[in-house]
Amino acid sequence: MERITKADDRVHRPAGPWTPTVHRLLAHLHEQGFVAAPEPIALGDTLETVSFVPGVAGEYPWTEDVASEAALVTSARMLRHYHDAAATFPLDDTVDVWSQAHRAPVETVVHGDFAPYNCVYDGIAAVGLIDFDTAHPGPRVWDVASAVYRFAPFTTGLDEGRAAPTLEARLARAAEFCRAYGLDDVSRSRVAETMVSSLVALVTLMETEAAAGNPKFISDLQHGHADLYRADVAYLEDHLDEIAAAVA
Ligand SMILES: Nc1ncnc2c1ncn2[C@@H]1O[C@H](COP(=O)(O)OP(=O)(O)OP(=O)(O)O)[C@@H](O)[C@H]1O
Ligand SMILES: [Mg+2]
Repeated sequence: MERITKADDRVHRPAGPWTPTVHRLLAHLHEQGFVAAPEPIALGDTLETVSFVPGVAGEYPWTEDVASEAALVTSARMLRHYHDAAATFPLDDTVDVWSQAHRAPVETVVHGDFAPYNCVYDGIAAVGLIDFDTAHPGPRVWDVASAVYRFAPFTTGLDEGRAAPTLEARLARAAEFCRAYGLDDVSRSRVAETMVSSLVALVTLMETEAAAGNPKFISDLQHGHADLYRADVAYLEDHLDEIAAAVA
């Protein structure tokens, strides 16, 4: 059986200890008028059910639509609206369970994996945001930095059909994402270093989960993903000043 199945307008996904908290977050988002997220429908012991968000997820290889500047701009605006809606989620450490530790300073509930493959597009317009398994309290820049990494993109080897963009093109898209989001100056000054720390955290997570027997991460390691991310860390560290200047 597939890990994730779709039936009619519903999606069934594996549930974790954090899923009840995520469902409360999804309900809160809809109360706030953020309708790009799935609606929580049902929660079982091993499966959750959420509404299907119509459109096309921005999986690799990217289509021309997903690679477009309009997709980048509308995704950044959607992230801003998501953060603003999630910021009023009533956090309660006595009942909330998240899959990741809180990250200071807590400004909102971050998505934790904001990337084209977790956005849903109608042509060039971002209309949906899915896969909230990694959501957790944290600073806006945590999502913006990992989004800039995925959208600029500063990734190597993940989108094999597409030629690697030049540094100039990456810097321009990084700046465009921050502008479309409306990122404040203090957060802008943290984007470059946060990109590096989020990648280091991702490699650590992959290795810890793989060592614990998680099949998804074992497969990621076997496909060399940790090595790709380490190469990206080296690239980012070589260009940290240029990235910081571009998004300032
Ligand atoms: N609520 C939803 N609405 C629309 N499509 C969805 C929804 N949930 C999942 N999908 C589809 O299933 C794919 C994988 O789902 P999701 O991103 O939630 O899980 P994942 O843990 O990232 O899975 P994978 O390991 O396959 O990347 C998405 O790319 C999307 O095509
Ligand atoms: Mg996903």
